[in-house]
Order: sequence, then structure tokens, then C-alpha cells
Amino acid sequence: MKIGVLGAGQLGRMLALAGYPLDLEFVFLDPAADACSASLGTHIREPYLSEAALARFCASCDVATYEFENVPAHTAEVVGASVPLYPPAMALTVGQDRLNEKKLFDSLGIPVPRYMPVAARGALDLAIRNVGLPAVMKTRSLGYDGKGQAVLRKPEDLDSAWQRLGGAQPPHTPCLVEAFVPFERELSCLAVRGRDGEMRFYPVVANVHRDGILRVSIPQDHDPLQSQAEDYARRVAEKLDYVGVMAFEFFVAGGQLYANEIAPRVHNSGHWSIEGAVCSQFENHLRAVAGLPLGSTAARGYSAMVNFIGRAPETAALCAIPGVHVHHYGKSPKPQRKVGHATITADGEAELKSRLAQLVALVESVA
Ligand SMILES: Nc1ncnc2c1ncn2[C@@H]1O[C@H](COP(=O)(O)OP(=O)(O)OP(=O)(O)O)[C@@H](O)[C@H]1O
Ligand SMILES: [Mg+2]
Repeated sequence: MKIGVLGAGQLGRMLALAGYPLDLEFVFLDPAADACSASLGTHIREPYLSEAALARFCASCDVATYEFENVPAHTAEVVGASVPLYPPAMALTVGQDRLNEKKLFDSLGIPVPRYMPVAARGALDLAIRNVGLPAVMKTRSLGYDGKGQAVLRKPEDLDSAWQRLGGAQPPHTPCLVEAFVPFERELSCLAVRGRDGEMRFYPVVANVHRDGILRVSIPQDHDPLQSQAEDYARRVAEKLDYVGVMAFEFFVAGGQLYANEIAPRVHNSGHWSIEGAVCSQFENHLRAVAGLPLGSTAARGYSAMVNFIGRAPETAALCAIPGVHVHHYGKSPKPQRKVGHATITADGEAELKSRLAQLVALVESVA
């Protein structure tokens, strides 16, 4: 079976690496010259809106999926009309727009930080009166790795944040403002839903971000918020008639979950599952979209994942750490860019802690 993937970044690459043993083949559509999945399948290097490229893409795959959520709506429409597309286009419509996302969470009774849409400079003052300070202003779409965000701490921050994110001149970029959450922890819940509606959940993952970029993810053993996170993820997935892996990011404040955002795709906070779970998020996503039985989401021992941001340590230095599993993405070094990750596995908590400390020290030494 040939899987068509919209996007050809590192997520596409790891999907393909998981897919070949299942006898799956891959075709990628991505305009980027340096797309790092390119060597793992056929790469159609054309714009997402090229009708000829879309026709070629659809003719060469049996089922289609995507590895990033900013696929243009028209692309999803054209592909979905010609081959089965999972997750469904509705998941993209929601995942691409923070306002749609928050409205969906609200409608499903999932707690969210206070928020208000902001389409003009005047509306920002009103929003701040409602939401209070500190607050976070975010563009409604196209943000990633903390880009398209500004923390508002005092009234004087509003003008510059609006100029930067909303734009000095009309037409302004639609934004929203949400309350700054003084969270105790950040958790994500990775769920997979099959074509038949069966759902499975990975152990929730504790995530550490710096400068808006994910640094470290650690799956949690029997977290007290596991079943609450699963319940919220199930509500969203069922509402969207979802098929595939979905990531749901939460803040934990006062011991309660508050929804941050969903990613309608495999997710960085699930990379540990390649070595740390019985069936990885990548394999389970492919199983779901290909209509195969889902695999076990149970953890195998203890694990933790560390991202390489900007540049990666030397492979030899990484391999010297016991229990390490190295993943280079084939991307050139660049500040703030995710160029790879490593997962540490261990038999016990103490062993994990000491190995993780070695890995973090090595990664930080090259950053
Ligand atoms: N309302 C908030 N209160 C406190 N911290 C926040 C808030 N919103 C975002 N952050 C911090 O910034 C990080 C990135 O924010 P968010 O998940 O909204 O952005 P993103 O750019 O879509 O990130 P990504 O796509 O990498 O997950 C969060 O994980 C959190 O650490
Ligand atoms: Mg996020």
C-alpha cells in the first residue's frame, strides 16, 4: 500500500522509517528543496496548490495523510475528494486556527484559559480588560515552536506586541489573547483512533519548553491526570471523527488540566515512543490510516526524549551514553531549528535519571 504524505519534514521521515517494515511505501508532497523525508520515498517537490502536482500525488497513493497542520484547506479538499484522507479535513480546520480550537474545547466542556479574539488594536485593550495581565497574545494561525506569540506583562507591552503580531497596517493578522497560566507542569496526551473508532492512549507525557520550544519529554507512569486527559482527548477525537494519532497539549494548574492546543498529527512529545513504547506513535498512525489493527500504546520500561535544537552533539559522544537512541533528521544546523533528538531508555527510575542528566548536559554543551 502506498501512503501519500503532505509535508516531508522529520515527522514524515519517521513515519516512513516506521512504515517500511509494514510493507508500506511513501510519496511526499512538499515544495521545500531540503525536505528531510525526500530520500525515504518519492518526493514531489511542488507547491501545495499546484493542481498538476496534486493530481500526480493522488494518482500515486492509496491513502493520504499529513505531517504538518498548515496544509492549505484547498489542498486537503482536492486530495480528500480523490483518495481517503486521514485525519479528516475537519481536524485541519480546527487544528489550524487557535480560535476554532478553543471554541471546540469550550463546546465539549474542556477547561481552557480565559481568551478573547483580537482583530484590531482597539479590541486588544478590551481583551486585556477581560482576560487580565499577564496574558499571551498569539496569532490565530501559522504559529509553531512559540513563533507568533508575545507575553504581555504590563499595559506598555500592548502596542509593540500588536505591531509585531497584528501588523502595523491593515489587513491585520487575526490574533487572540489568552490568560497566562502559571502552570505547575505541561502535559500532553497522545491518542490514536482507528478507522473503526477504537481508541488507545499513550501514557501522558511531561514536557519542558524553553523559549517556546520543546526541550525534554518524559512519559509518566500512572499519572493522576491520565484518565482525565484521555477523557478530553476522546471527546475531541470523537467529535472530529478522527483517524490517526492526535496530540493534545495541556497546562496543569491547581492540579487541574487546561487545554492548550491539539496537533492533528504525530507530535514531538511522542518521539520517545519509538523505543519507549510497544508500538510507536508513527507505526500506530500508519496502522490507523491504513486500516490495520492498532498496536499497544504501553510503555516498555522507562524513557525520556531530548531535542537537539540548533545543532546536534557528535554522534560518537551521544553513543557513549548508555541506553541512548540517536535520531538525526538530516537537517543543516540553524538557531532554534529542531535538527534531531535522542531517547534514553532504562530499566528503573534512578538509572533513567542519571542517563538523562548525561544526555541533557551533552546537548546543552553544544547549544
Ligand atoms: N497561556 C499560556 N500561559 C503560559 N505559558 C504559555 C501559554 N501559552 C503558551 N505558553 C508556553 O509557550 C509554549 C508554546 O505555546 P503553544 O503550544 O501555544 O505554541 P506553539 O507555537 O503552537 O508550539 P508548538 O507548535 O511547538 O507546540 C507552551 O508549551 C508554553 O510553555
Ligand atoms: Mg504547543
